Amino acid sequence: MSRSLVVVSNRLPFVVSLDEAGEPVRTNSAGGLVTALAPLVIKCKGFWVGWAGKEFTKDMQLPPSKDPTAIAHSIEPSQIIPIFYTDEIYKAFYNGMCNASLWPLIHSLPTLTIFKSEYWNSYLEVNEQYAAAAFEAVKQFEDLNDRNNLVWVHDYHLMVMPMMLKNMVDEANINCKIAFFLHTPFPSWDIFRLNPWANEMLLGLLGCDLIAFHTNTYAINFIECCYHILGSRIDKQEMLVEYGNKTIIVRALPLGIPYNWFENMAKASPKPFHCKETIILGVDRLDYTKGIIHRARGYERFLEKYPECREKVVFFQVAVPSRTDVDDYRNLKDELEREIGRISGRFGTAEWTPIKYIYNNIPQHELAGYYRDARIALITAVRDGMNLVAKEYVACQIADPGVLVLSPFTGAGETMHEALLVNPLEQEMLADTIKNAYDMKYHERKLRMNALQTREKLFNLDTWRDSFFDAVDLIDSVKKMQSLN
Ligand code: G6P
Repeated sequence: MSRSLVVVSNRLPFVVSLDEAGEPVRTNSAGGLVTALAPLVIKCKGFWVGWAGKEFTKDMQLPPSKDPTAIAHSIEPSQIIPIFYTDEIYKAFYNGMCNASLWPLIHSLPTLTIFKSEYWNSYLEVNEQYAAAAFEAVKQFEDLNDRNNLVWVHDYHLMVMPMMLKNMVDEANINCKIAFFLHTPFPSWDIFRLNPWANEMLLGLLGCDLIAFHTNTYAINFIECCYHILGSRIDKQEMLVEYGNKTIIVRALPLGIPYNWFENMAKASPKPFHCKETIILGVDRLDYTKGIIHRARGYERFLEKYPECREKVVFFQVAVPSRTDVDDYRNLKDELEREIGRISGRFGTAEWTPIKYIYNNIPQHELAGYYRDARIALITAVRDGMNLVAKEYVACQIADPGVLVLSPFTGAGETMHEALLVNPLEQEMLADTIKNAYDMKYHERKLRMNALQTREKLFNLDTWRDSFFDAVDLIDSVKKMQSLN
């Protein structure tokens, strides 16, 4: 395989931090993106452009990976192109434009959105930096005319860099496709246009040859944005957008999980819960999009309305620390912990705590045991691009089948129809759905879980990656089309 792939994402496949002696250590990540792409980057000796976290500074050497079992272990330092953020950039780009402006907007929560021109200026600056770094990597490709040369850009942090990069490769006469995958929702045009830089962002994305989303809804939202905001010509049937003399392919490619890997971890994972109660599980990054407070209140209503269930269940919530420098996230943590304390105080007894709460990262092989042994999973995000926890829970249900309670406002909710779908914003419905899940008989649980498992096993992480490359293969034929007519 020739050297022909550059992956560009805000985060590198690892984070560098300092140990107690002040020495840099590399912690390899294990998310879906890394699991899918690290093997490709390794195989084709490609590159990965991204940020290693705020503790990794320009004057430091990249520490070697010490964990040979990690998927990103064998990526050589020469394949890594690190981007460094100054303190100001970290605040204005990452905390500001990415997490205080774009994140709430793309999750259709515009009242939480803060726009500031200094955030936007820093977004432009960082995107320029990424484009320049990706261009340097492209210039090292083995054959600059190879039609397989590809830069694959990820997520909302980098929406304007594709056009910047396109201009660079076009000027240098290099044959290179640019593709993009958005890991979050994409909102309707009426929400997206609240962004003061909506035009610039859409135009930035149209530097790509292919733009892909988790669901059809998001893909159509994007196409409609191009129509309403930019006045582009679009074809919703064929999923194409025309910009200048270029046609851009838009696709819905739902992300899957490494199903067998989770299933095997569930087989090997030790027993996490040593209590007699039925476990109701929530696992989320601590983010307001995940609906954790609504969930806790729905559970409270369940305990209130169905007193016979008290002392028979425990709600186990794992909250993974996230974006702790952003005000909304800090406030959320305080509010959630208050609510959990209040509900526990209201119903708890000397023998029974109704909610157990962990604010920490749990290694995946341990988490697999939590998934396996939980009778009910509450995935009740108010909005979520996909939500892989729903899929991971299903893959780990290898023994007595549990029940997945799922919000329809997640990408997963668009396909996982055999879950109990519930609007997480209404407490009574949530409480009743928890009760239905609690009462559900073995036969129905088994039927639903089998159907969910069959689908996720088939549409797994490999399927997602392969269908992405199938879509990349369409680019050349679409390029030949002069016009949509
Ligand atoms: C979401 C985004 C990812 C991001 C992750 C964690 O899943 O789509 O791009 O990496 O959240 O957030 P963080 O801000 O810590 O990277």
